Amino acid sequence: GCIQDAGKDRLGMELQEIMRGKFPHFMLKEIFEQPDSLFNTMRGRINFDSYDVRLGGMAEHLGTLKRARRMLFVACGTSYNSAVATRQFLEECTEIPVVVDIASDFLDRACPIFRDDVCFFISQSGETADTLSALKYCKAKGALCVGITNTVGSSISRSTDCGVHINAGPEIGVASTKAYTSQIVSLVMLGLMLISDSKAKDERRRAVIDGLKAIPDMIREILALDAQIKAIATELYKESSILVMSRGYNFANCLEGALKIKELTYMHAEGILAGELKHGPLALIDSTMPIVMLVTDDSNFTKSENALAQITARHGRPLIICNKDRTPKTEEHTSELQSPYDLV
Ligand code: UD1
Ligand code: BG6
Repeated sequence: GCIQDAGKDRLGMELQEIMRGKFPHFMLKEIFEQPDSLFNTMRGRINFDSYDVRLGGMAEHLGTLKRARRMLFVACGTSYNSAVATRQFLEECTEIPVVVDIASDFLDRACPIFRDDVCFFISQSGETADTLSALKYCKAKGALCVGITNTVGSSISRSTDCGVHINAGPEIGVASTKAYTSQIVSLVMLGLMLISDSKAKDERRRAVIDGLKAIPDMIREILALDAQIKAIATELYKESSILVMSRGYNFANCLEGALKIKELTYMHAEGILAGELKHGPLALIDSTMPIVMLVTDDSNFTKSENALAQITARHGRPLIICNKDRTPKTEEHTSELQSPYDLV
């Protein structure tokens, strides 16, 4: 028996090595898979010519979703962050209050749930214990329970009334990566589907669909910066703590970035909402505190630029992640040359 088992383990390892290809570990492979995993998330669901979006698992339930008094998103870790990332867009589409909860906290509070709530459970594995317990709790209250899962046949996929398989392909790395982007795209598709017959939102809907079409190539462009990003990361790795800040759509990416840094480097990292800077976090800023700021070209650009000014006024020297064609204004003394890191 022992010999046979050892043989099985060896075979298992060899298969894993083959699957990993040229990558030293699965997480890196999965990061690099994102142009394809995102394409697969959208495959057969978005028609980029006719601007139709159809999630097969949700088609019959749209009426219930539109009539909901509230939408609740319950998840853990990265899956929770994907709900934070899409909350604003879902509120915009549905004009229904959207609540986002960490599963363990949701259970601790025994959150009130009503029959006309729609509860979403996001989970890569579909097996996370707290998320599954929250699902059972909401089901017992009579709410429609929707799964956003990556694993067909998982407990959450089977126990929900309906849902979306994100189709990102197996995620083996413990720290979630490609599932995060596919969860976000799945929830954006759900929002798009909910506004498919709205004249007032048609222009916005088409613009977002065009944006989704461009994502795989944009990710390829970012992945091509791998060596540059690695050089910056090697510098940052010498530090003991990192603050990651932004606001609006990017806040979730700060939480996710900080979570990834903690989980992988064992460094202290914190995602900070830039709108909260003056209510505490500014006290941490000086010329020695490593800061990463996300200042992307969206509706919060000017507000993020203001946050950047507050940071530089305190002699903070942030590493800025921004769009190629719209870089934020920085103070003279924090120019690229004087910054310890290059501007990405
Ligand atoms: C489905 C097929 C897909 C096929 C496509 C063709 C499956 C798993 N998917 O994809 O292979 O190519 O039709 O039209 O057979 N669900 C839940 N909870 C969840 C996730 C999903 O209840 O967490 C339900 C959905 O409501 C749906 C079913 O599972 O009834 C399949 O969901 P999904 O794979 O997302 O549906 P399609 O994209 O239509
Ligand atoms: C944690 C993992 O244990 O579970 C995280 O370390 C993950 O990476 C979280 O995001 C939730 O997992 P799931 O499978 O429910 O999305």
